[in-house]
Amino acid sequence: MSGPFDRGLPAADAGPGRVPDDAVDPRAGDEERVVESALRPHSLADFIGQPKVARQLDLVLEGAKRRGRPPDHVLLSGPPGLGKTSLALIIGSELGTAVKITSGPAIERSGDLAAMLSNLAPGDVLFIDEIHRIARPAEELLYMAMEDFRVDVVVGKGPGATAIPLEINPFTLVGATTRAGLLTGPLRDRFGFVGQMEFYETADLERVLARSADLLGVELTADGSAEIAGRSRGTPRIANRLLRRVRDYAEVRADGRVTLEVARAALALYDVDDLGLDRLDRSVLEALVARFGGGPVGVATLAVAVGEEPHTVEEVCEPFLVRAGLLARTPRGRVATEAAFRHLGHPVPRGGLALSGGTADPPSDGASSQTLFDA
Ligand SMILES: Nc1ncnc2c1ncn2[C@@H]1O[C@H](COP(=O)(O)OP(=O)(O)OP(=O)(O)O)[C@@H](O)[C@H]1O
Ligand SMILES: [Mg+2]
Repeated sequence: MSGPFDRGLPAADAGPGRVPDDAVDPRAGDEERVVESALRPHSLADFIGQPKVARQLDLVLEGAKRRGRPPDHVLLSGPPGLGKTSLALIIGSELGTAVKITSGPAIERSGDLAAMLSNLAPGDVLFIDEIHRIARPAEELLYMAMEDFRVDVVVGKGPGATAIPLEINPFTLVGATTRAGLLTGPLRDRFGFVGQMEFYETADLERVLARSADLLGVELTADGSAEIAGRSRGTPRIANRLLRRVRDYAEVRADGRVTLEVARAALALYDVDDLGLDRLDRSVLEALVARFGGGPVGVATLAVAVGEEPHTVEEVCEPFLVRAGLLARTPRGRVATEAAFRHLGHPVPRGGLALSGGTADPPSDGASSQTLFDA
């Protein structure tokens, strides 16, 4: 289909900084999105982890099926690579309905959206990825569509233009966003169910890896799987990507089996350390610890020290370093935690750190700690 319906899945922002095939970047490049579709779970039963969102969604879908009506509109929010698109497609397959896919940036004119909405069959799922990037006029059209299953089609131009209300079939909107904070209140309020995706436990990532290894026909040992899972930053996309890299290594340099030794050797080759830090993450941390005595230091200075743009350091490296409890953002600048010194094998300074104990605890998600420190 042409127009605003994407043929494939919408690509994420290319984003600053890392090369698209960077081993631990949580975003996916275009090619990777194609590979990923083969590994996507197709039912809730197949969907690993995210117990809270999965259980709540199961209830929402079950209830709707019993009532024989489309479920509430669903918003899925959370960092890249945690399974939002997978869940959106699962909603369609659990309901046995078609999923029409588009994305916020693909809807340029509200007329495009009106056409899309009026083409939906009863009960269809409309999946809008990156919904926070939808243009304002299209967003306003969406309000009425979500609430009353109606759209206003504007006929004519200028003062003579009239809005003709048009009925559309009841449908379920599934929106996905990595930036829920950028959503307007009125849009957010129209979702009956909001699923906040969390980073995965290592044990869940091991299950993701076991499943993917099966699908890819790779022999993966339990300790090999644990090793990869531990370096995957709580993100299934990264786990699957590391598995593919390690598999390549296993096929070329070993007997094809992914064992602990093979995983370690391959991940060392790809510069992914045992916490999942890559070379750039480590050089940021190393500069902070060794050259600036643990900080505080401004992000611009830190970026110059590693030869990167400040926004790359800020948006690409720091979220995970903060989440891993290695770095803190304070009003006076970036500060290394004791864990950072230990991780890099540097002695912790005797006089203590600029950051006193407690605040260095690993926060459960990057976003909240960011607002905490960046006030
Ligand atoms: N719960 C899960 N169980 C099994 N595999 C998963 C799960 N979640 C994600 N994956 C795998 O991780 C990959 C990325 O997931 P997905 O594309 O759904 O993430 P996303 O949240 O939509 O990311 P983005 O924000 O970049 O669009 C998929 O290929 C899928 O196979
Ligand atoms: Mg997605």
